[in-house]
Amino acid sequence: MLERLESLRQDALARVAEATDAEALRVLEKELLGKEGVISEILAAIPTLPQEERRDTGRGANALKGELLEAIGSKRALLDEALVEALRDGGGFDPTLPPATPARGGLHPITQVRREVEAIFTSMGYEVLDGPEVELDYYNFQALNVPVDHPSRELQDTFYCDDSHTVVMRTQTSPVQIRAMERLKPPFRVIAPGRVFRNEEQDATHEHTFHQVEGLVVGEDIQVGHLTWTLRRLLNELFERELEVRLRPGYFPFVEPGFEFDVRCPFCEDGCRVCSQTTWIEFCGCGMVQPCVLEAGFSGREDVDVSKLTGFAFGFGLDRLVMMRFGIDDIRNLMGGDLRFLEQFPC
Ligand code: DAH
Repeated sequence: MLERLESLRQDALARVAEATDAEALRVLEKELLGKEGVISEILAAIPTLPQEERRDTGRGANALKGELLEAIGSKRALLDEALVEALRDGGGFDPTLPPATPARGGLHPITQVRREVEAIFTSMGYEVLDGPEVELDYYNFQALNVPVDHPSRELQDTFYCDDSHTVVMRTQTSPVQIRAMERLKPPFRVIAPGRVFRNEEQDATHEHTFHQVEGLVVGEDIQVGHLTWTLRRLLNELFERELEVRLRPGYFPFVEPGFEFDVRCPFCEDGCRVCSQTTWIEFCGCGMVQPCVLEAGFSGREDVDVSKLTGFAFGFGLDRLVMMRFGIDDIRNLMGGDLRFLEQFPC
Protein backbone atom coordinates (compact mmCIF):
# COMPACT_ATOMS: atom_id res chain seq x y z
CA MET A 1 0.00 0.00 0.00
CA LEU A 2 2.81 2.39 0.83
CA GLU A 3 4.35 1.86 -2.59
CA ARG A 4 1.00 2.62 -4.14
CA LEU A 5 0.87 5.86 -2.22
CA GLU A 6 4.31 6.84 -3.43
CA SER A 7 3.56 6.16 -7.08
CA LEU A 8 0.22 7.92 -6.72
CA ARG A 9 2.09 10.89 -5.26
CA GLN A 10 4.53 11.15 -8.13
CA ASP A 11 1.85 10.74 -10.73
CA ALA A 12 -0.51 13.23 -9.10
CA LEU A 13 2.12 15.95 -8.60
CA ALA A 14 3.21 15.57 -12.22
CA ARG A 15 -0.37 15.93 -13.43
CA VAL A 16 -0.95 19.01 -11.25
CA ALA A 17 2.18 20.57 -12.68
CA GLU A 18 1.02 19.85 -16.21
CA ALA A 19 -2.53 21.21 -15.84
CA THR A 20 -3.01 23.97 -18.41
CA ASP A 21 -6.13 25.71 -17.22
CA ALA A 22 -8.40 26.21 -14.19
CA GLU A 23 -11.03 23.75 -15.45
CA ALA A 24 -8.52 20.93 -15.96
CA LEU A 25 -7.20 21.61 -12.47
CA ARG A 26 -10.71 21.45 -11.01
CA VAL A 27 -11.37 18.06 -12.64
CA LEU A 28 -8.05 16.75 -11.38
CA GLU A 29 -8.74 18.03 -7.88
CA LYS A 30 -12.02 16.19 -7.82
CA GLU A 31 -10.40 12.98 -9.05
CA LEU A 32 -7.70 13.14 -6.37
CA LEU A 33 -9.33 14.81 -3.38
CA GLY A 34 -13.06 14.69 -4.05
CA LYS A 35 -15.53 12.72 -1.94
CA GLU A 36 -15.15 9.79 -4.29
CA GLY A 37 -11.52 10.53 -5.17
CA VAL A 38 -8.47 8.30 -4.81
CA ILE A 39 -7.42 9.56 -1.41
CA SER A 40 -10.90 9.02 0.03
CA GLU A 41 -10.90 5.57 -1.46
CA ILE A 42 -7.59 4.72 0.21
CA LEU A 43 -8.73 6.10 3.56
CA ALA A 44 -11.96 4.12 3.31
CA ALA A 45 -10.05 0.93 2.59
CA ILE A 46 -7.86 1.15 5.70
CA PRO A 47 -10.07 -1.08 7.89
CA THR A 48 -9.66 -3.91 5.35
CA LEU A 49 -5.84 -3.80 5.54
CA PRO A 50 -3.72 -6.05 7.73
CA GLN A 51 -3.42 -4.55 11.19
CA GLU A 52 0.28 -3.60 10.86
CA GLU A 53 -0.22 -1.56 7.67
CA ARG A 54 -3.13 0.51 8.85
CA ARG A 55 -1.34 3.19 10.82
CA ASP A 56 1.31 4.03 8.22
CA THR A 57 -1.19 3.95 5.40
CA GLY A 58 -3.46 6.38 7.27
CA ARG A 59 -0.63 8.77 8.01
CA GLY A 60 0.77 8.51 4.48
CA ALA A 61 -2.62 9.12 2.87
CA ASN A 62 -3.33 12.19 5.05
CA ALA A 63 0.12 13.62 4.42
CA LEU A 64 -0.36 13.14 0.70
CA LYS A 65 -3.72 14.82 0.90
CA GLY A 66 -2.10 17.88 2.49
CA GLU A 67 0.65 17.95 -0.06
CA LEU A 68 -1.76 17.74 -2.98
CA LEU A 69 -4.00 20.48 -1.56
CA GLU A 70 -1.05 22.78 -1.36
CA ALA A 71 0.24 21.90 -4.83
CA ILE A 72 -3.20 22.46 -6.35
CA GLY A 73 -3.55 25.79 -4.49
CA SER A 74 -0.29 27.18 -5.76
CA LYS A 75 -0.94 25.90 -9.26
CA ARG A 76 -4.34 27.64 -9.25
CA ALA A 77 -2.72 30.95 -8.26
CA LEU A 78 -0.20 30.56 -11.08
CA LEU A 79 -2.92 29.83 -13.62
CA ASP A 80 -4.98 32.86 -12.46
CA GLU A 81 -2.00 35.13 -12.79
CA ALA A 82 -1.21 33.76 -16.21
CA LEU A 83 -4.82 34.36 -17.27
CA VAL A 84 -4.70 38.04 -16.23
CA GLU A 85 -1.38 38.36 -18.00
CA ALA A 86 -2.79 36.83 -21.17
CA LEU A 87 -5.89 39.04 -21.15
CA ARG A 88 -3.79 42.11 -20.57
CA ASP A 89 -1.51 41.26 -23.43
CA GLY A 90 -4.53 40.63 -25.62
CA GLY A 91 -5.75 44.18 -24.85
CA GLY A 92 -9.17 43.01 -23.64
CA PHE A 93 -8.67 43.67 -19.97
CA ASP A 94 -7.28 46.66 -18.15
CA PRO A 95 -7.04 46.06 -14.40
CA THR A 96 -6.19 49.71 -13.82
CA LEU A 97 -9.63 50.90 -14.97
CA PRO A 98 -12.09 51.87 -12.18
CA PRO A 99 -14.87 49.32 -11.61
CA ALA A 100 -18.32 49.80 -13.11
CA THR A 101 -20.25 51.94 -10.61
CA PRO A 102 -23.74 50.80 -9.59
CA ALA A 103 -26.64 53.06 -10.60
CA ARG A 104 -27.23 55.62 -7.85
CA GLY A 105 -30.71 56.30 -6.47
CA GLY A 106 -31.97 59.72 -5.46
CA LEU A 107 -34.38 61.48 -3.17
CA HIS A 108 -37.99 61.83 -4.25
CA PRO A 109 -38.83 65.48 -5.03
CA ILE A 110 -41.31 65.46 -2.13
CA THR A 111 -38.56 64.31 0.22
CA GLN A 112 -36.26 67.03 -1.10
CA VAL A 113 -38.74 69.81 -0.39
CA ARG A 114 -39.87 68.26 2.92
CA ARG A 115 -36.27 68.29 4.13
CA GLU A 116 -35.91 71.90 3.06
CA VAL A 117 -39.05 72.85 5.02
CA GLU A 118 -37.83 70.87 8.05
CA ALA A 119 -34.48 72.64 7.94
CA ILE A 120 -36.16 76.05 7.91
CA PHE A 121 -38.38 75.18 10.87
CA THR A 122 -35.67 73.49 12.91
CA SER A 123 -33.58 76.63 12.44
CA MET A 124 -36.45 78.46 14.19
CA GLY A 125 -36.37 76.02 17.12
CA TYR A 126 -39.15 73.70 15.98
CA GLU A 127 -39.22 69.99 16.71
CA VAL A 128 -40.25 67.67 13.84
CA LEU A 129 -42.94 65.18 14.89
CA ASP A 130 -44.38 62.08 13.30
CA GLY A 131 -47.85 60.61 13.71
CA PRO A 132 -49.76 57.51 12.59
CA GLU A 133 -51.25 57.43 9.10
CA VAL A 134 -53.96 55.06 10.30
CA GLU A 135 -55.56 57.22 12.93
CA LEU A 136 -58.43 57.16 15.40
CA ASP A 137 -61.49 59.21 14.51
CA TYR A 138 -60.95 60.82 17.90
CA TYR A 139 -57.64 62.43 16.88
CA ASN A 140 -58.52 63.10 13.25
CA PHE A 141 -61.92 64.68 13.96
CA GLN A 142 -63.44 64.70 17.46
CA ALA A 143 -60.60 66.25 19.46
CA LEU A 144 -60.16 68.81 16.67
CA ASN A 145 -63.73 70.02 17.16
CA VAL A 146 -64.92 68.67 13.80
CA PRO A 147 -68.66 68.19 14.29
CA VAL A 148 -70.30 64.86 13.50
CA ASP A 149 -72.14 66.35 10.55
CA HIS A 150 -69.10 68.07 9.03
CA PRO A 151 -68.87 67.28 5.29
CA SER A 152 -65.26 66.07 5.54
CA ARG A 153 -66.52 63.13 7.57
CA GLU A 154 -68.67 61.87 4.71
CA LEU A 155 -67.86 58.47 3.26
CA GLN A 156 -67.03 60.04 -0.07
CA ASP A 157 -64.28 62.12 1.55
CA THR A 158 -62.78 59.87 4.21
CA PHE A 159 -61.43 56.33 4.03
CA TYR A 160 -62.80 54.53 7.07
CA CYS A 161 -60.99 51.40 8.17
CA ASP A 162 -63.79 49.72 10.13
CA ASP A 163 -67.58 49.51 10.16
CA SER A 164 -67.93 51.43 13.40
CA HIS A 165 -65.99 54.34 11.90
CA THR A 166 -63.56 54.63 14.80
CA VAL A 167 -60.43 54.18 12.67
CA VAL A 168 -59.65 56.30 9.60
CA MET A 169 -56.82 56.89 7.16
CA ARG A 170 -55.92 60.34 8.45
CA THR A 171 -57.35 63.04 6.19
CA GLN A 172 -55.01 65.73 7.52
CA THR A 173 -51.86 66.05 9.63
CA SER A 174 -53.79 68.10 12.22
CA PRO A 175 -54.33 65.07 14.54
CA VAL A 176 -50.61 65.31 15.38
CA GLN A 177 -51.52 68.58 17.15
CA ILE A 178 -53.51 66.64 19.73
CA ARG A 179 -50.81 63.98 20.08
CA ALA A 180 -48.26 66.75 20.65
CA MET A 181 -50.39 68.37 23.35
CA GLU A 182 -50.80 65.02 25.11
CA ARG A 183 -47.07 64.48 25.26
CA LEU A 184 -45.21 67.81 25.36
CA LYS A 185 -44.95 70.50 27.98
CA PRO A 186 -45.69 74.05 26.79
CA PRO A 187 -44.19 76.22 25.55
CA PHE A 188 -43.40 74.21 22.42
CA ARG A 189 -43.10 74.61 18.66
CA VAL A 190 -43.60 71.62 16.40
CA ILE A 191 -44.20 70.71 12.80
CA ALA A 192 -45.56 67.39 11.57
CA PRO A 193 -45.00 66.58 7.91
CA GLY A 194 -46.67 63.47 6.55
CA ARG A 195 -48.92 61.58 4.20
CA VAL A 196 -52.67 62.07 4.26
CA PHE A 197 -55.50 60.31 2.45
CA ARG A 198 -58.83 61.36 1.00
CA ASN A 199 -61.42 59.45 -0.90
CA GLU A 200 -61.29 61.77 -3.90
CA GLU A 201 -61.72 61.64 -7.64
CA GLN A 202 -58.21 61.96 -9.03
CA ASP A 203 -57.32 64.66 -11.51
CA ALA A 204 -54.37 66.96 -12.21
CA THR A 205 -54.71 68.65 -8.82
CA HIS A 206 -56.32 65.92 -6.67
CA GLU A 207 -54.84 62.68 -5.42
CA HIS A 208 -56.15 60.19 -2.86
CA THR A 209 -52.70 60.24 -1.22
CA PHE A 210 -50.87 63.49 -0.69
CA HIS A 211 -48.70 65.33 1.82
CA GLN A 212 -49.19 68.08 4.35
CA VAL A 213 -47.08 69.90 6.87
CA GLU A 214 -48.82 70.78 10.10
CA GLY A 215 -47.49 73.41 12.49
CA LEU A 216 -48.39 74.09 16.09
CA VAL A 217 -47.01 76.57 18.59
CA VAL A 218 -48.38 76.66 22.15
CA GLY A 219 -47.35 78.95 24.97
CA GLU A 220 -48.33 82.05 26.88
CA ASP A 221 -49.13 85.22 24.91
CA ILE A 222 -48.89 83.61 21.51
CA GLN A 223 -50.80 85.75 19.00
CA VAL A 224 -51.57 86.22 15.31
CA GLY A 225 -48.44 88.31 14.70
CA HIS A 226 -46.29 85.31 15.60
CA LEU A 227 -48.21 83.22 13.11
CA THR A 228 -47.82 85.61 10.17
CA TRP A 229 -44.16 86.27 10.97
CA THR A 230 -43.46 82.54 10.97
CA LEU A 231 -45.21 81.82 7.68
CA ARG A 232 -43.57 84.80 5.99
CA ARG A 233 -40.20 83.64 7.19
CA LEU A 234 -40.89 80.18 5.74
CA LEU A 235 -41.91 81.56 2.35
CA ASN A 236 -39.03 84.02 2.16
CA GLU A 237 -36.57 81.22 2.85
CA LEU A 238 -38.22 78.87 0.37
CA PHE A 239 -38.38 81.40 -2.46
CA GLU A 240 -35.27 83.30 -1.43
CA ARG A 241 -36.95 86.70 -1.47
CA GLU A 242 -39.51 88.83 0.31
CA LEU A 243 -43.01 87.97 -0.94
CA GLU A 244 -46.22 89.85 -0.26
CA VAL A 245 -48.77 87.89 1.80
CA ARG A 246 -52.38 88.37 2.90
CA LEU A 247 -54.77 86.87 5.42
CA ARG A 248 -58.40 86.23 4.62
CA PRO A 249 -60.99 84.89 7.05
CA GLY A 250 -61.34 81.11 6.71
CA TYR A 251 -63.27 78.46 8.59
CA PHE A 252 -61.53 75.48 10.16
CA PRO A 253 -63.22 73.94 13.19
CA PHE A 254 -60.01 73.78 15.23
CA VAL A 255 -59.01 77.46 15.01
CA GLU A 256 -60.70 80.71 15.98
CA PRO A 257 -60.14 83.09 14.35
CA GLY A 258 -59.25 81.02 11.28
CA PHE A 259 -57.54 82.31 8.15
CA GLU A 260 -56.61 81.48 4.63
CA PHE A 261 -53.03 82.59 4.10
CA ASP A 262 -52.18 83.65 0.54
CA VAL A 263 -48.86 84.55 -0.98
CA ARG A 264 -48.18 86.71 -4.03
CA CYS A 265 -47.31 84.46 -6.97
CA PRO A 266 -43.50 84.19 -7.12
CA PHE A 267 -43.61 83.39 -10.85
CA CYS A 268 -45.38 86.32 -12.45
CA GLU A 269 -46.35 89.98 -12.22
CA ASP A 270 -49.78 89.91 -13.76
CA GLY A 271 -51.15 86.38 -13.74
CA CYS A 272 -49.91 82.98 -14.93
CA ARG A 273 -50.85 79.31 -14.98
CA VAL A 274 -49.52 78.63 -11.49
CA CYS A 275 -51.70 81.29 -9.84
CA SER A 276 -54.67 80.71 -12.18
CA GLN A 277 -54.24 84.28 -13.48
CA THR A 278 -55.00 85.77 -10.03
CA THR A 279 -51.40 86.66 -8.95
CA TRP A 280 -52.23 85.10 -5.55
CA ILE A 281 -51.55 81.56 -4.42
CA GLU A 282 -53.55 80.02 -1.59
CA PHE A 283 -50.78 78.74 0.58
CA CYS A 284 -52.38 77.37 3.73
CA GLY A 285 -55.07 77.32 6.36
CA CYS A 286 -54.18 78.63 9.78
CA GLY A 287 -55.42 80.40 12.87
CA MET A 288 -55.40 80.64 16.64
CA VAL A 289 -56.02 77.26 18.28
CA GLN A 290 -59.62 76.87 19.53
CA PRO A 291 -59.69 76.82 23.35
CA CYS A 292 -61.74 73.60 23.25
CA VAL A 293 -58.98 71.94 21.20
CA LEU A 294 -56.41 72.97 23.82
CA GLU A 295 -58.77 71.56 26.48
CA ALA A 296 -59.03 68.24 24.63
CA GLY A 297 -55.31 67.98 23.93
CA PHE A 298 -54.17 68.82 27.46
CA SER A 299 -57.03 67.06 29.29
CA GLY A 300 -55.82 65.13 32.31
CA ARG A 301 -52.49 67.01 32.38
CA GLU A 302 -52.01 68.24 35.91
CA ASP A 303 -48.72 69.88 34.99
CA VAL A 304 -50.41 72.20 32.46
CA ASP A 305 -52.65 75.18 33.18
CA VAL A 306 -54.67 75.44 29.96
CA SER A 307 -56.30 78.71 30.97
CA LYS A 308 -52.92 80.46 30.56
CA LEU A 309 -52.22 79.05 27.12
CA THR A 310 -52.81 80.23 23.58
CA GLY A 311 -51.41 78.89 20.36
CA PHE A 312 -51.39 79.11 16.60
CA ALA A 313 -51.63 76.34 14.05
CA PHE A 314 -51.25 76.02 10.31
CA GLY A 315 -51.36 73.32 7.68
CA PHE A 316 -50.15 73.44 4.10
CA GLY A 317 -49.91 71.04 1.20
CA LEU A 318 -46.41 69.87 0.44
CA ASP A 319 -47.26 68.50 -3.01
CA ARG A 320 -48.37 71.92 -4.20
CA LEU A 321 -45.07 73.38 -3.07
CA VAL A 322 -43.13 70.64 -4.86
CA MET A 323 -45.13 71.26 -8.03
CA MET A 324 -44.39 74.99 -7.81
CA ARG A 325 -40.72 74.42 -7.12
CA PHE A 326 -40.16 72.01 -10.02
CA GLY A 327 -42.80 73.25 -12.48
CA ILE A 328 -44.84 70.03 -12.34
CA ASP A 329 -48.38 70.42 -13.64
CA ASP A 330 -50.00 67.10 -12.71
CA ILE A 331 -50.02 65.91 -9.10
CA ARG A 332 -50.54 62.30 -10.20
CA ASN A 333 -46.92 62.19 -11.37
CA LEU A 334 -45.67 62.52 -7.81
CA MET A 335 -46.89 59.19 -6.47
CA GLY A 336 -47.05 57.47 -9.87
CA GLY A 337 -43.76 55.67 -9.36
CA ASP A 338 -42.54 56.26 -12.93
CA LEU A 339 -38.74 56.44 -12.75
CA ARG A 340 -38.52 58.34 -16.02
CA PHE A 341 -40.42 61.14 -14.30
CA LEU A 342 -38.53 60.98 -10.99
CA GLU A 343 -35.09 60.90 -12.60
CA GLN A 344 -35.68 64.44 -13.81
CA PHE A 345 -35.20 65.69 -10.24
CA PRO A 346 -31.85 64.25 -9.22
CA CYS A 347 -30.52 64.93 -5.77
N1 DAH B 1 -56.03 70.48 8.19
C1 DAH B 1 -56.49 71.50 7.27
C2 DAH B 1 -56.81 70.88 5.92
O1 DAH B 1 -56.45 69.75 5.68
C3 DAH B 1 -55.44 72.57 7.09
C4 DAH B 1 -55.32 73.43 8.31
C5 DAH B 1 -56.08 74.57 8.40
C6 DAH B 1 -54.47 73.09 9.31
C7 DAH B 1 -56.01 75.38 9.50
C8 DAH B 1 -54.36 73.91 10.43
C9 DAH B 1 -55.15 75.05 10.51
O2 DAH B 1 -53.55 73.63 11.45
O3 DAH B 1 -55.04 75.83 11.60
O4 DAH B 1 -57.40 71.52 5.11
